Amino acid sequence: MTKTAPPPAASPFQRLGAMLAAIAPGKSAIDLTVGEPRHGVPDFVGPVLSASLADFGRYPPIKGIPAFREAVASWTEQRFGLGTPIDREDGVLPLNGSREGLFYASLHAVRLEAGSKGERPAVLLPNPFYAVYAAAAEAAGAEPVLLPADRSTGFLPDVAGLDPSLLKRTVAVYFASPANPQGVVASLATWIRLVELARQYGFWLFADECYSEIWRGEAPAGVLTAADRLGGFDRVVAFNSLSKRSNLPGARCGFAVGDPAFLKSWATFRNIAAPQVPVPVQKLAVAALADEAHVVENRRLYDAKFAAAERILAGRFADLTPAGGFFLWLDVARWGGGEVVAERLWREAGVRTVPGAFLSASDATGSNPGSDFLRVAMVESLETTEQALIRMAEVFS
Ligand SMILES: Cc1ncc(COP(=O)(O)O)c(C=O)c1O
Repeated sequence: MTKTAPPPAASPFQRLGAMLAAIAPGKSAIDLTVGEPRHGVPDFVGPVLSASLADFGRYPPIKGIPAFREAVASWTEQRFGLGTPIDREDGVLPLNGSREGLFYASLHAVRLEAGSKGERPAVLLPNPFYAVYAAAAEAAGAEPVLLPADRSTGFLPDVAGLDPSLLKRTVAVYFASPANPQGVVASLATWIRLVELARQYGFWLFADECYSEIWRGEAPAGVLTAADRLGGFDRVVAFNSLSKRSNLPGARCGFAVGDPAFLKSWATFRNIAAPQVPVPVQKLAVAALADEAHVVENRRLYDAKFAAAERILAGRFADLTPAGGFFLWLDVARWGGGEVVAERLWREAGVRTVPGAFLSASDATGSNPGSDFLRVAMVESLETTEQALIRMAEVFS
């Protein structure tokens, strides 16, 4: 079942702040709410920035410096095993973090369609969802349509079940893999089906892949691999950033890669309307994308924390460790659901987490796919995470 999302409310963190405002933490506070990696910034950050201080004296080019475009293109080709080369001139755009790109992309997509999708074009998004997708659809004047991504659909939207009449008026589809909050990874077959649909119905597929490098077991497939297998990048844009891969959320450095025709016309729009990425930050991206050692170390640190969760919370939850991303997505229905448990964890244990309902919207029957769940960001050090998990285990006893 699909449903129109309500206008974007406050961010999940503002809602949580309001919910817990009058409650003192029962123990020293441990904040596991925001998906902000805290493993420390890589060593090369200082030297790269200090060597490029003079660049702060210039306005950055909207399309990025050639070295940035080359670094993103060659990293993407290698990581996703692409046979079709990325267009170095038009196939890459720097973003001020992937969030603003995900927002502006729908504005541009709806502009480009200029009424060809009927009076009320649709933008499809998973439910639960990263809040900016709904905000973008709303701001673009499109109807944000929610696709359930709960246990019944394997925690990703059911691509096979999409209604053709809806697809005909669809301008854009947001699809995240690894998904936040569920940590589920889309198979290559799922990506291939989505790319086929994008071309058949003429919508843009916006793949949110900012967690692509945080995985366990096998590296997740990407949308560009699927597009490449289908002959090129037409109708497909992948969004990624340094935030999760390189522990650099504060650098605000992301990128869009894919359909050169879309990205070229979007660059023209962005040149008037969107923020540029400072050149020293682009140079940081060049250094970051050339180095995999810090990314491997990141995965090792997350692995250790998920192993701790398996040990400390043993017997309480099925499927604790996700295939990708760095969140626990806990079904806490038997303790009263996400909001009750988030409040208890704060009041009794000083552990701050996000109720799943704050990351989702209610469906047509009034039920919210996130309400049984709690999101726990495994972003702190191993020691602090273990402390939080031990306190949580007491509440879940
Ligand atoms: C699913 C998802 N997409 C996109 C982003 C945006 O990240 P950034 O703007 O730092 O690249 C986030 C950040 O938490 C996220 O969780």
